[in-house]
Order: sequence, then structure tokens, then C-alpha cells
Amino acid sequence: MCGIIGCVSDVDVVEVLIDGLKNMEYRGYDSAGFGVHDGNTIRVCKGVGRVDEIVRSLDLKSFSGKIGLAHTRWATHGGVTPENAHPHLSCNEEVAVVHNGIIENYQALKASLEAKGHRFRSTTDTEVIPHLIEEKLKAGKNHRDAVLDAVRELKGSYAFLVLFRDLGDRLYGVRKDAPLIIGLSERGNFLASDVLAFLKHTNKAVFLENLEVTEVKRDSYIIWNFEGEEVQRSVSTLVWESMTVSKKEFTHYTLKEIHEQRETIALALRQDSDDLDRFCLALQGADRIYIIGAGTSYHAGLVAKHLFLNLAKLPVEVILASEFEDYVTLIDEGTLLLAISQSGETADVLSAVNIAEKRGASVLSIVNTPSSTLARMSEQTLYLNCGPEVGVAATKTFTAQLAVIYCIASRLSNLSIDLIKITKAVEEVFGVERQMAYLAQAFSTSKDCYFIGRGINYPIALEGALKLKEIAYVHAEGLAAGELKHGTLALISEGVPVIALNPRDKTYHDTLSNVAEIKARGGRVIGISDVENSLYDYYVKIPSVGKLFYPLVEVIPLQMFAYYSALERGQNPDYPRNLAKSVTVK
Ligand code: F6R
Repeated sequence: MCGIIGCVSDVDVVEVLIDGLKNMEYRGYDSAGFGVHDGNTIRVCKGVGRVDEIVRSLDLKSFSGKIGLAHTRWATHGGVTPENAHPHLSCNEEVAVVHNGIIENYQALKASLEAKGHRFRSTTDTEVIPHLIEEKLKAGKNHRDAVLDAVRELKGSYAFLVLFRDLGDRLYGVRKDAPLIIGLSERGNFLASDVLAFLKHTNKAVFLENLEVTEVKRDSYIIWNFEGEEVQRSVSTLVWESMTVSKKEFTHYTLKEIHEQRETIALALRQDSDDLDRFCLALQGADRIYIIGAGTSYHAGLVAKHLFLNLAKLPVEVILASEFEDYVTLIDEGTLLLAISQSGETADVLSAVNIAEKRGASVLSIVNTPSSTLARMSEQTLYLNCGPEVGVAATKTFTAQLAVIYCIASRLSNLSIDLIKITKAVEEVFGVERQMAYLAQAFSTSKDCYFIGRGINYPIALEGALKLKEIAYVHAEGLAAGELKHGTLALISEGVPVIALNPRDKTYHDTLSNVAEIKARGGRVIGISDVENSLYDYYVKIPSVGKLFYPLVEVIPLQMFAYYSALERGQNPDYPRNLAKSVTVK
């Protein structure tokens, strides 16, 4: 969602803040803002649009100072306007705040602050924070206690930073149910919602836990709990320190990340043998297993269900994280929750994990971000090892999730993974890129698109549809191929594109019958398969990779189709409207 960064340094922080914000822009990007202490006052610059546009149009480069904070916004409360961009200031401009999350009781707080004479400039929930802190200062509290007192009145999930006009050497940071990390470097210290904000400057980080407040100076920091007692947290070394967050020669992160799958699938398939054994032992010892995830990670969970059931006779239920509450009464000490998440920060997922932990269940996870909240909450975690993913649409992390799931399935059964064969097949599938670009152009005016597949191919149909919706803004539906005739077939008419995932596995002939039904109604079928058939209007050849591994090679053409469809329709695939990479609100 929103990204926040603060920096206290012995050099000018403006460039550092701009750069940090750009690296977090993928989290949310409808507006952005900066607050820089110039030694005298807190100068604020904020506006609507991308960071670069704001920096250019508002002449931020004329700012200078050794302490400041910044924010990229993904609107929750209050429209996308310059006034609603962060930082927000108190009435007397003594307190500046940037915030990620939601203050649930802001309406009541706002009413009571207004009754005391506070004037609000925005319609956000965030703005209550600086006003509340100002109230506490007026009541005679020192800076730290003003923050702590204010926090005790806030309800919701949040991480925020506070800069005081009369304290130009330190920042305060608060964490409750949203990530906040201290970065420690030679030239100064950082506070940010995402390690990518400061990874260029340091790989040393301290992760705040829930209900903690920190005071960060240029060369020191202190952490307290919400009761004001000092707590100790160890310094972690981040494992992504050597990974660059750049597009390299690619026009977009999304395309770069699609191409990275040539290496990342193999990297994710190399799981530590002991870690895998422990993970599988836990799965086998559980009375019942629930897999949870959201969006693309949920689709990976559906593939896991298919493999665990068919290979290891291990029944699991896959639940959308946001729907998990319905299952609460079934959760006990014998339950194992397997949470799948790229970011490890998705609020719906963390909330399900909290529910499960409270009822004594074990929590295992498959995560990309090593330092994420989910990884730290889990008893065991298997990592995707595929580096940061910046494009909002999950691409390389989906296939890495699948790769980890194949590793688990192979430990639970007699499935053998031929790494060389898979690597070759993945390389080969990149041969269809130009064809996918051509198809995206051929269907660039279609308003709808359907994806069908059976068995293990069904979740890939869902994933293909999700990709096309989110980055190309095309109405798309993924369907179990056999379901089409139970209703959706009514929507198939002359020229409507249907992408059929039809590899040579046990679903082949049944799906082909469904293709025939679509053709009979005038639908235009793109067949993705290792076997050509005259029923297809367009045939996209994928390599034969062994019947259970088709998802890995089927999804890549679908990612390309979505990417090129976005370009055809004039959209920037890296930054789809209304979406954020890491969804930290419920
Ligand atoms: C789709 C996409 C989202 C995420 C979902 C879960 O391309 O990126 O649907 O998959 O928000 O995010 P994580 O995996 O970070 O929990």
C-alpha cells in the first residue's frame, strides 16, 4: 500500500528520499509528498501523480536538509488530491506525519479535535495524528510521550513517522499491524515501511515488532513498547543487499520479471533439503491443513491442493485469506495453516495467521520477502529466493511459488523433479513471445476474454484472467473448462477470444471437447498446448514437460499476453490503476 520513508543523516537527504520513494512506488502511487527540515521549519512538497512528476513540477530539488520524511500514497480514506497527499501537518506546523494504514476511529477523533479548535486541511484519516500529537504537546508532554499518548488513542492498523519542527535531529516511528523497519548506515539512519527504500545504502536493519515506538537519530536509536518500556531488538543483515532494483535493458519491470523466470524457477527449485524435510514432517503430522493466500498466491495454493491430493493423498482446503474467518471454529492445535504470500505483508493473510495462532494452530509459510512479518510469524518458512518483484502484477513470484510447491510435493510423494528438463522447457517457452505480442494486437479491441483449463490447469486459467484484468483492464474470466457449459457459454459469441490451456495430460480430450463447443458458437480459440489441433484458431506451442509440470510453462505465455495487451491498450503494466503491490489494509 502506501510507502513511507524517513532519514536522519549528516548529508542532505532530499535525493535519498526521492530515490527511496521511487523504490517503493510500486506499493502505491496515486500521489506522493516530502517533508524536509531545513534547520528552521518543516518544508512540505506534495502532489498528485508519480514521484518523478511531483519532483519536477513542485521543484523539490530546491529543498535541502539533513532530516526528512516522504510518502507514496494509495488512497484509502479521502480522494486523490494534493491536500490528501502526505505529509500532514498539525495546525501550528510543528508536527509532520506520514502514515501507512488506516485509523479506524478517525471520525470520532477528528470531531473531538475540531471541537478543541483544530482546523483540518485534508479529508484523510491520517491528519488526526499530527493534531492529536500537537494536543499532547500543548498539554505539557515531551515529544516521546506525546507520541505514545496519541498512539494509545488510535484504533486501526498503522505505521507512521513523526518529524517535529523543534527537534531537527530525530524522527519517531510507530508500528501497529503494518511493517516498519530501521535501516542503519554509516551516513545516517532510516525508517521505512519496506527495506527496498534504503537497501542501496545499507543491509543492516532492525525490525520493529507490533506495538512499538522508536526514536531514530543520525547514529543511534531507541525502541519502546506502547507502555514506554525500553525493548531490545537485534540487528539483521538483509539478504537482498546485492540485488539491484532496476529495469536493466527492459522497458518495464513486468517484462524484466517475466524474463527473469529463466533463472528464478530454477533458484526456487533449489530448496534446502533439511528445511524441506522439516516442512513436510509438519504437514504430514497435522490433523487438517488449510492453505491461505490472496490473488495470485491463492492460485498457487490451488495448484498445491491438486498436487498434494493427487500425489500424496494429502487433503487440504484452500481458502481465500479474506474469507478465513468463517473457518475459525474449526481451528485448533491439530490444525496447520500454510500461508502463501509474495510480500508476507498482506493484511488479509496476517489476519488469518493471527486467528490461527490464537487458536493454537501451527503456521508454515511460503514467502518471497525474507524479512516480512509473515516470515517472522511463521514456525517454518520456505523462501522463493527470486529477489524483489517490483511490477505490481505477480509474475516471477508465482512460478517461484509453484516451484517451491513442486519441491514439497516431491518430498511428500515419488514425484521426481528434472531440473535440467524444466530449465530447458522454460527457456524454450520464451520462443512464443513475439507470437503473444501479435495475439495481443490481434485482440486489442476485444472487450472480454475467457481462459479455460481443467485439473491442475484450472488455477492457471484463473491466473491468466487475473493478469489480463489487472494490467490490461480487460474483462477476463478464468473457468474450469467443464463449467463453461453450465452458464458462461451463453457469453461466447462471434469473435470472442477464449484461451484454452490444453496440454497433453489426462484433461486433454475433455478440454478439446469444450473447445469444440466454443468453436460451434463462433468463439476464437487460442490453444496453448504441446499438441497442435485444427480446432484452434491460433496455436501456441509449449514444450512437453511432464504432465504435472505444465503450469510452469503455460503461465508464461499468459503473462506475456497480459503484458503486450496492456501496451496495445496504452497502459503502463508496471503501475496498474487502483492497485498496490503489497495490500496492507483489509
Ligand atoms: C496479482 C497480485 C495480487 C497478489 C495479492 C497477494 O498479480 O499481485 O493478486 O497476488 O495481493 O499478495 P501477496 O502474495 O503479497 O500476499
